[in-house]
This record gives sequence, structure tokens and C-alpha cells, in this order.
Amino acid sequence: MTESMERTRVSRRSFLGGVGVTAGGLMVASGPVLWQQAAKAETVTAEQVHLTFGADPAREVVVSWVTPTAVSNPAVIVGTTHGGFGRTVRAETLTYTDSNNGVETLVQHARVDGLQPETDYVYKIVSGGETQVSSAFRTAPEGRVPFRFTSVGDIACGDTGYKKASLNAVATAASIESFDPVVHLVNGDLSYANSNQLAQPQVWEEYFDNTQLSSANRPWMPTLGNHENEPGNGPQGYLSYQTRFALPGNGSGEFEGNWYSFQIGSVLFVMLDNNDVCYQIDTGTYLSTGDNQILTGYSDGAQLKWLERTLREASTDRSVDWIVAVMHQPAMSTSDADGSDLGIRQNWMPLFYQYGVDFVLAGHDHDYERSYAVRGTDSGTVLRPHVVSTDLTHVDSDKGLVHLVIGTGGTSGHDDVYNPEVAGVPQETINVSGTATETEDAPWSAVTDPNTTYPWGLGVFDVDPGRFPGDKTTMTFTYYHTSAWSGSGAYPTPVEFDTFTATRTRSDGFGFRQRDSK
Ligand SMILES: [Fe+2]
Repeated sequence: MTESMERTRVSRRSFLGGVGVTAGGLMVASGPVLWQQAAKAETVTAEQVHLTFGADPAREVVVSWVTPTAVSNPAVIVGTTHGGFGRTVRAETLTYTDSNNGVETLVQHARVDGLQPETDYVYKIVSGGETQVSSAFRTAPEGRVPFRFTSVGDIACGDTGYKKASLNAVATAASIESFDPVVHLVNGDLSYANSNQLAQPQVWEEYFDNTQLSSANRPWMPTLGNHENEPGNGPQGYLSYQTRFALPGNGSGEFEGNWYSFQIGSVLFVMLDNNDVCYQIDTGTYLSTGDNQILTGYSDGAQLKWLERTLREASTDRSVDWIVAVMHQPAMSTSDADGSDLGIRQNWMPLFYQYGVDFVLAGHDHDYERSYAVRGTDSGTVLRPHVVSTDLTHVDSDKGLVHLVIGTGGTSGHDDVYNPEVAGVPQETINVSGTATETEDAPWSAVTDPNTTYPWGLGVFDVDPGRFPGDKTTMTFTYYHTSAWSGSGAYPTPVEFDTFTATRTRSDGFGFRQRDSK
């Protein structure tokens, strides 16, 4: 028995035994049961189950899973909660071989299209001739309807034998599930496989085996973080990520999956790869390259062009009220861990202001921070944002955007420590090159959570679409933080820490102005 086989973990096994389908078709999670790796049966041919939305979340869901070996006729059988199972969708198999340990991973992706909006479906994974998993999902609503989404990054896996892993990663998946969101946004740094270079595929396995507590029941839409870069696995080290996720296309061909967008209701989500623009680089030594792998500028402007086109089109789209940008490294952070990054301010922020982005969600720093509403920049080479309002309760999104750092997904190292204030003014450390930082006043910082009693948490967004064309629509945000989980017993209860309501004018009204005219 290897060392890894002796580790105690919370696993897919407990998921399969601990959940069921209710009369309403939704999954109900009971507490997981600790088990030994050695108990993993050889006959299991489907694991690491996760869902993602297709380009049209109201009509397309991709069911993805991993098989330990090649299997015949991998497929998903889909039905409705009231009509039973009927339609079979064959899966496409993608594979890659890890450059460090030679382990081959086989990922099955079944793209289920032609679905109806806001409808409950049941599905069964048939892999190797056996029904392996039965679960359920709900398609996204369309039009201007209320819905909820959640957001947190920096999750890691639950096997504490691996670096960056924490049992709180398991509790986070359960916490997300408890809020019943239409979609969960992962703000980068998923498994931390590249912190465990000789066991990268195994760490991914642990990650998915734990997150499927929620991601087998509802789509989790990811962005790339610095820990998705596995040097030797593809040109940007993204081969594992790109193989494991079947994400909406971006038209680049070469960089599919690295950035993309999708719309739910009146909210456009813009998912970006900040490794392409940020200055900060990892200082680790990688087995395959001998040093770190710098990705800054790798797309040669392709992502920036896509972003400009996507936002420009959204700015005149009368079905889009809200634009939420999701990324990993933060443009604004007063954490004393990683801090802000000038590259994001230089590349993305002018477009965000120009086209009226409403929220910028990030992770990377393993803590929580909220900015005031900001728009444009004050003077200075670090592009300090201009605060348009210090109202903590109500945000007028017609006038400015809010930055949120939500990197509290469960990784073993939580930060919760911020730069000390100077004369009552928060301070930020800004990465201005690969090796240099500057310290600046950060009067834009509105809320931090230096409470180490509740070091983890997640963000919950509730969209109210308003009542008539041109009406006000609102987005209520609440950050819940949680205490540590011991690995047994009930998961910690999320505790509300910070909340505010943002208001924006619907874009379908008479006399609608292009968003960038504000
Ligand atoms: Fe990170």
C-alpha cells in the first residue's frame, strides 16, 4: 500500500452513498463518511463527475467524468423528473498524459443540448456498460427572471496528504450546495495540482471527487489561476485544465477554454485568464522546466481583442443588464499576501470602465475584500481607481463597479491579514513587474475580513430583474464566512459577514443609452 492509499479522505465513495434524488429531482447531500483509499473498487469506471454549461446555459449542459481506463460507449442517459429516462448522448473522450509522472487521464464529455430553460433533468452516466452515477441538474432560466449564483476560488482538494489541501475544501462544496445556486463561479486556483508536481493527476482526482458533492448537481464554471499552470503539460501548462473542462468557445482555436463568456438571465459572465496579463509570477521551481513558467503576454493580445469585442457587443445588447467579470489575480487587494496587480489595471480596467462592467470577482489572496464603487483612475502610475461613492449599503452600478476578492474556498493557507493602515488609510502592495512591488494608499478599500475565527467563505448573489422595461434591477450580494471543519460531523454553518445591494437601470427601456455613455 502506497502512502497515498493510506490517506484518509472524503471521497466520491461517500458522495455516491450520501446523496439521493428527491421527489423534486434535486440532490440532497447528507454528511460525508470518511473512508480509506484502499476501499476503492476496481469496477468503478466513472468518477470526478462535474457539470458545466454550454454556450447557451438555458439549453445546453455538459456532463463530464473521468474513467480509470478506456471504456466502451461512454454516454449519458437524460430524462425529466416526471417523464423518466429516455435520450442517450454519447460522450467524447479526451486524454492527456502528465509530463511529470506519466499518468494518463481519460475524460468523458457528454454535451447535452436541446434542453428547455429552467427545467429539472435527471441523468445517468453509463460507462463501460454499467450505470455508474445517477444525478440531476436544472437548466438556467432565460429572460429577465430572478436567480442566484455563487462565487469563490482557491479551493484545493480535501486530501490533507497533499500540499495546499484542506478538509475545508470539502466543507466549501457542501456550503455552495446549501445555497442552491443556478451556477457556481470558481475564481481560479482549483485543485493546486501544480503544488504537488509528482502527483498532479491524483490531486485533480481528489479535487473532483470532493467537489462533485455540488458540481455533479449544478454547473461550476471555472477560470484559470496560477495553480492551473502545470509546466510541461501543454504550451501554457493548461493541458490538464483544458482536457478536464469542456467550456464555451472563444473562437481563438489555439486558446479554447482559456477565456469565454455565457449569459444567464440578464447577467453576462465574462471569464478571463489573468495569467495572460498580470505581472506577478510564481517563484517555484518546476521539474519539467527547471524554473517557473512566465505566461504574461502569452496570447499576444488575442484575449484582449476578444474581451473588447465581447464587452462592446454587450454594451448595446438590450438583453444584458449586468456584466460580471470573473478572474483569479486581483486588480485591487490590500492583502499582505499577493496584493494588487498593475497588469490587470492596465489591460482590463479601461475596458471595464468603458463598457460598464458591474462586478469584478477575483481570488488568489485567500481572504475577502470589497471595494467601494469605483470608476476611472486618479492620477498616478499605478492607476489608483477613483472612488465614486462610499455608501456601504447601496451601490449605484450605473456610476461605478465593485471589486470583490473571494479567495476563501478552503485551501490550507488562509491569509486574512491586510497591510497596516497609514494615517487611517488602507495600504496596498501592487505588483508592477515580475520582481518589483510598490506600496500605495488604497482609499478604495471598503471592507476586509481579518477574522481568523471564520477564515473561509463564499459570495452569494441574488438577481432581481425589476418589473418593466427601463425599470431598476438589483443585485444583492452577501459574503458568508465559515469556521474550520474538523472532517467529521456537521459542516460549519455559513455566517453572514457583509452585504450590499447594487442597482442598475435595465437596458431594455425607452431611450436606452449605450452603457459606455455613463
Ligand atoms: Fe493564486
